Formats: sequence, C-alpha cells, structure tokens
Amino acid sequence: MDQTRMNAIIVDGGKGPPEALKWVDTDRPVPADGQLLIRVRAAGVNRPDLLQRRGLYPPPPGAPETLGLEAAGEAVNDAGRWRAGDRITALLGGGGYAEYAVVDARHALPLPAGLSFEDAAALPETVFTVFANVFEHGRLAAGETLLVHGANSGIGVTAIQMGKAAGARVVGTCRARRGPRL
Ligand SMILES: NC(=O)c1ccc[n+]([C@@H]2O[C@H](COP(=O)([O-])OP(=O)(O)OC[C@H]3O[C@@H](n4cnc5c(N)ncnc54)[C@H](OP(=O)(O)O)[C@@H]3O)[C@@H](O)[C@H]2O)c1
Repeated sequence: MDQTRMNAIIVDGGKGPPEALKWVDTDRPVPADGQLLIRVRAAGVNRPDLLQRRGLYPPPPGAPETLGLEAAGEAVNDAGRWRAGDRITALLGGGGYAEYAVVDARHALPLPAGLSFEDAAALPETVFTVFANVFEHGRLAAGETLLVHGANSGIGVTAIQMGKAAGARVVGTCRARRGPRL
C-alpha cells in the first residue's frame, strides 16, 4: 500500500449539497514537529461542517480543505506525550473526514477504557466548548441554575448533560418548528 496516499471525503466543486461529498484518493498528510498523525477510525459531524460544505464557512488560512473538526483513532507516530498505537481523540483544525489527519499533539486526549472510537469522536468540539464557556468562564457550581437556549443543538445537548453531571439545575429552551435542511 502506498504510504503517501489515503482516501478522504472532499466537497466536489468546493461547495454543494450532501451529494457533493465524494470519497477520493488524495495525499496523506505528513506530521510536522509536535504534530500527531492519526489513523482516523471515526469523525464527528458538527454544524460548521455543514456550513463549510455549503461554502459559507471557509477554513482558516493553513487549515485543511477537507471537512472534519474532530476525530478519534490511533496515533501513527510518537509526538509529545503520545506513542504510536495510543487510542486518542482530538480537536482538529480540519481534515477529520479522512483516513489520516494531523493534529497538534497537545490537542489530543486519551480514550478512557470502554469508550468506542465513534463515541469518542463526538466529544471534543462540544465538550471542550461547553467546558471552556460554562465551567472555566461561567464557573458553574452544583446547586446553581444553567439556562440553555437551543437546547436541542449539539452544544445544547452536551451542556445539559455536563450541567446535570455537575449538580446544576438545568433549564432548556428550543423552538418548535424544524429548521431548514442543511
Ligand atoms: N458544535 C460545536 O462544536 C461548536 C463549537 C463552538 C461553537 N459553536 C457554536 O455554538 C452554536 C451551536 O452550534 P451547534 O453545533 O450545537 O449547532 P446545531 O446542533 O446545528 O444547533 C443549532 C441550534 O440553533 C437553533 N436555531 C437555529 N436557527 C434558529 C432560529 N432562527 N431561531 C431559534 N433557534 C434557532 C436550532 O434549532 P432547530 O433545531 O429548531 O433548527 C438548534 O437548536 C453555534 O453558534 C456554533 O457556532 C459550536
């Protein structure tokens, strides 16, 4: 097998409907110093991916064009605290919808025993966001009330679970009608 190639999901034409997503042969990313190459086993899907697919949320300069802001899999190389073969999940600048992705080794977390790659891949984006905003900045404490608007969103569902786990009283709101198809 060619170690310089991989398959990835690209947006055919740069933007488009779900049908524009294509599974193609492409270059495998090469990790720089301090970066981890991940053999991706599962990737999370977030609202920004849907917007990026539609051409409404371009990746920042230097980030991969390939979609995917979070993934779980095995470390391919040694980097930072990680050794090849470690099971990790990571927050990515992009590129998760692929067989291989690179990430700053500091942005990866170990998988607890018993957690599947699929479950782990859905954690970084929303858990890091809720942790930073609700717990680091908001300093939510047990017994306090957490109000979550857009409670049915990815962020909202995570905020509800983390708020309850922290012993807060959680109140959520959401609108009744279904949103547009993205
Ligand atoms: N996902 C992440 O990891 C992440 C990270 C950082 C920041 N954020 C930010 O967090 C926010 C939520 O992201 P998400 O990924 O959790 O989004 P999401 O799962 O796509 O959910 C979007 C939420 O917004 C609601 N909404 C959309 N338009 C609305 C309107 N006109 N009136 C009332 N409610 C409306 C939706 O309600 P319906 O279901 O009824 O349409 C849904 O509850 C976004 O601002 C995003 O940029 C997300």
